[in-house]
Amino acid sequence: MHKVIFDTDPGIDDAMALLFLERHPEIDLLGITTVFGNASIETTTRNALFLKREWNIKAPVAKGGDVTYDAARPMAPWPVVVHGVNGLGDIDMPETIDDVPLDPRPAFQFIIDTVRANPGEVEIVAVGRMTNLALAIAHDPEIIGMVKQVVVMGGSFEKNGNVTPAAEANIHGDPEAADAVFTAPWKVVIVGLDVTIQTVMTRTQMHDLAARGGPHLELLAKISDPYIDFYSQQVEDGMVVHDSCACVYVVAPELFGLRPGSVRVVCGGIADGQTIQKPSQQFFPPSPWDDKPDQQVAMTIEPVKVVDLVAKTLVP
Ligand code: BDR
Ligand code: CA
Repeated sequence: MHKVIFDTDPGIDDAMALLFLERHPEIDLLGITTVFGNASIETTTRNALFLKREWNIKAPVAKGGDVTYDAARPMAPWPVVVHGVNGLGDIDMPETIDDVPLDPRPAFQFIIDTVRANPGEVEIVAVGRMTNLALAIAHDPEIIGMVKQVVVMGGSFEKNGNVTPAAEANIHGDPEAADAVFTAPWKVVIVGLDVTIQTVMTRTQMHDLAARGGPHLELLAKISDPYIDFYSQQVEDGMVVHDSCACVYVVAPELFGLRPGSVRVVCGGIADGQTIQKPSQQFFPPSPWDDKPDQQVAMTIEPVKVVDLVAKTLVP
């Protein structure tokens, strides 16, 4: 069994990824930690509680903070054109979810406690800003050696970003946090735009899941509809399943081709939030990549198989 903490900013593709984790038979979802990103922390946390209730998810929800890792950094605006003002495609939903309790701990403390309770076993799948993870290792660096792996949806290495030509949203929203996570001595697998942008669930596939999967899938399809409209301007008639790609890596790593090398994040200037991996050639020292641990960056993916696995897991 894979023991997973899901660090997320729901978010439409986050919602699909959450249902994938909940339903995959080899995944034990230990907790959901929220981060700002696709909407404010209040909104993403409300959305996590809403999805927990609607989908009968047992895992607790712990709320993240409302500032970046470097609190002096101005917050990036929420991408309302992508996920809607309410972060879930502007479906009708309550302002607050009062009948589902939040875990009393801040997200970073939940991560620390859960890792310490399961040494060597926890896999963290982080599909929003890396703020909670950076805070967790800053507060308790010993957990770095106790985590099995961190799988991140974020960054872009040989393609443009999606917020600026240089930067992908999850990294651009908190570059200092991402740099802290990527340069820590633990195993990080980065599943970025290089592979996620190719991985599309078509509108027809989504409608088919809704038709066969009952109210839970009908809800997901309703949430996803405006997201499909948005992505249909860029790809075929469907949605890019960014966050599900990172979740699929946990159970089917053979569907990805990885490239090793240390990774740094540009913090400031016109390339703020750009992710750069050191290639294997030699450079003149000193460089900011020296003495940093090698991480793994996904450069290839089998998109059809990834989407099939997502669909088969959502509706067996
Ligand atoms: C990432 O940004 C968010 O909008 C998505 O949920 C995904 O995690 C893609 O750049
Ligand atoms: Ca996300």
